Amino acid sequence: MNTHLIGTDVNRIDGPAKVSGAAKYAAEFFAPDMLYAVVVSGVIAHGEIDSIDTAAAMKVTGAVEVFSHKNRPHMAWFNKSYLDEDAPTDGKPLRPLYDEKIHHSGQPVALCVAETFEAARAMSRLVEVSYKALTHQTDMTFAVQEAKKVEKSNRAGIEPPPKNRGDSAQAYADAPVKLAKGYLSPTEIHNPIELFATTVVVNEDETMTIYDKTQSVSNSQLLVCNALGLSKDDVRVESPFVGGAFGSALRPQYQLILATMAAKALKRSVRLTLTRDQMFTLSHRPETLQEIRLGADTDGTLLAMHNESLQATSRYENYFEVIANWSGLSYLCENATMEEKTVSMDISTPGDMRAPGAVQGVWAIETAMDELAIATGRDPVDLRLQNYAEKDQNHGKKYSSKELKACYAQGAAMFRWNERKPTPRTERRGTALVGRGMAGGVWESPQMPASAKATLAPDGTLTIASGTADIGTGTYTVMAILAGEALGLPLAKVIVKLGDSELPVAPLEGGSWTVSSVGTAVTEACKAVAEKVFKLASGLGDSPLKHASFKDVEFVNERISLRGDATKFVTLAAALASGDGEPIAEKTKTGPNFLKQHGYKSYTHSAVFAEVEVDEDFGTVSVCRVVSAIAGGRIINHEAARSQILGGVVWGIGMALQEQAETDHQFGRIMNHNLAEYHVPVNADVHDIEVIFVKEEDDIVNPIGAKGLGEIGLVGVAAAIGNAIYNATGKRIRELPITLDKLI
Ligand code: MOS
Repeated sequence: MNTHLIGTDVNRIDGPAKVSGAAKYAAEFFAPDMLYAVVVSGVIAHGEIDSIDTAAAMKVTGAVEVFSHKNRPHMAWFNKSYLDEDAPTDGKPLRPLYDEKIHHSGQPVALCVAETFEAARAMSRLVEVSYKALTHQTDMTFAVQEAKKVEKSNRAGIEPPPKNRGDSAQAYADAPVKLAKGYLSPTEIHNPIELFATTVVVNEDETMTIYDKTQSVSNSQLLVCNALGLSKDDVRVESPFVGGAFGSALRPQYQLILATMAAKALKRSVRLTLTRDQMFTLSHRPETLQEIRLGADTDGTLLAMHNESLQATSRYENYFEVIANWSGLSYLCENATMEEKTVSMDISTPGDMRAPGAVQGVWAIETAMDELAIATGRDPVDLRLQNYAEKDQNHGKKYSSKELKACYAQGAAMFRWNERKPTPRTERRGTALVGRGMAGGVWESPQMPASAKATLAPDGTLTIASGTADIGTGTYTVMAILAGEALGLPLAKVIVKLGDSELPVAPLEGGSWTVSSVGTAVTEACKAVAEKVFKLASGLGDSPLKHASFKDVEFVNERISLRGDATKFVTLAAALASGDGEPIAEKTKTGPNFLKQHGYKSYTHSAVFAEVEVDEDFGTVSVCRVVSAIAGGRIINHEAARSQILGGVVWGIGMALQEQAETDHQFGRIMNHNLAEYHVPVNADVHDIEVIFVKEEDDIVNPIGAKGLGEIGLVGVAAAIGNAIYNATGKRIRELPITLDKLI
């Protein structure tokens, strides 16, 4: 029997290294002469540093230096030197310690460097900073008058709002059923377990090996070289393991520049780890307010859609996410208007957080669709089927595949959706009201240019190399599966190397595009190796493959066999033994096939069903059951795929019920900057979760037919839970998170 790897349940190949502690993270690398650095964070939201007194700090035993804008080494002058691959191209990225200007609370104002971590930390508490504060604005409610309309994209992969279609104002005015509501989602903070950290090892020849927490070693290398005037030849960035990132490490964070600056100036290795509260001064999911208007016929047929979306951003970069577009994409509606606006405030620049923009945009439209179902007396699933679009409504293009109907059907069946009582407050368990709700989800599935190298050693061991990252999503394993499948090797014979700027360049590890992009490059590299091995096999004296061509054979179970007649084969070992004893290596660069993809758009889809119990007296919510049905193309590693979706559902529980950065606007500072007060789900919050992958075949999206699953698992979950809470209580909460104070 042929042993295939794709679609099976494969444990992570990096699992043993992780559980045994052998896997090293950025802050765990070490050099004998290493110094330790600690960042001093500013306390005002807007203004200038007036003075910095470092005398007391420098008296600490082991103190080496305090860097600030007054004595920092040379840094680049031009904005373009600070533009990393994910930076808004029209902004002025934060330059740590560049000058006296303060742009947001928590901005780094000094860096203490010492012989020990304890000394550096003691120093950081003795640096005296005084400020000239200017007025600041961190409250979106008051900043809205400065809202600016987004007209064009300023980052790769970010779409501007689509052209309006039809006449949504007139269609809305004429519609028999009207719905007009505002939906508010809060600032959320990335809280990966691993803190941001950089260890810079200064080598004997003065080159640097930089271990950085990043979703792209090449992006970190680019930024640090440009900002500090270093040559790429002298700077190697490695990030073999990442303890979660969720988008926060797509852009290199300020500890990278600071640690490298200190190492360069002092000619010593330096380790810099941020604290948990400093993690609240970086990337975050922006606060949004969406004004949605839906006009419909009495049977729920959509006649008009309007989403005016507002999102908070910083003053120094006009970062924005695609939020309003999701409203117009998925449902048939001839009249639609989508507007995207940003509000600049004295906050740090937001950043991508798992399914950026879609998480907020889909939450709002899927909540509004539930409201429309109630208003028209339709079942929420039926309403969605009635307005189901077979074409991408924003772009007017065909979907390369869209098995969302199967998600609705299979999800509803497993969830027993037919047990739902349409009228709120009709089902009770003890003191709790029981409710059921559902929502759809959607995320894009692009393919990016990527490169990879495959090297088959004479002993049959295959090494795969690509500069992409594994941020905990299972990239090591999925690449091993694709490579093993392509060459008919067991996983034990596949070695995967990632996270090193000396490896073939890969795109940022984000956007759910790593499997489609890097997976394609790996597969192609392995195929190129396979062709060479086939030549050896068919060239053997008595080869049963003598008259076969490459397309006639398959690589399975360490054999090259004739398709359809497995008795005709050459073992991989025999083929390799006939070679010259050198490894067979192939490097490929792949990208989207524009010809094949012309006229198509590709997305992953989901249908999420949730059951909640809401305590009537206390307003506490328990999400007792979730079924998430996913259409994500071909599933490469079923086990890891399921884990991604489970994680997304758990995060959705947090988004629906718990997560919110609380800013004290008097200080312009996030106050719950720790894991005690910034709530995320714990085991007690998570109950029964079922994941379904519906069959979805797609040979247009990319050559391997897999759509990527890193983000879709979260999209739609909060709406499903909110809709279930409405079904339980009759209360519609349009402001996340749905905390108990809003329910009692
Ligand atoms: Mo993802 S938010 O693109 O890491």
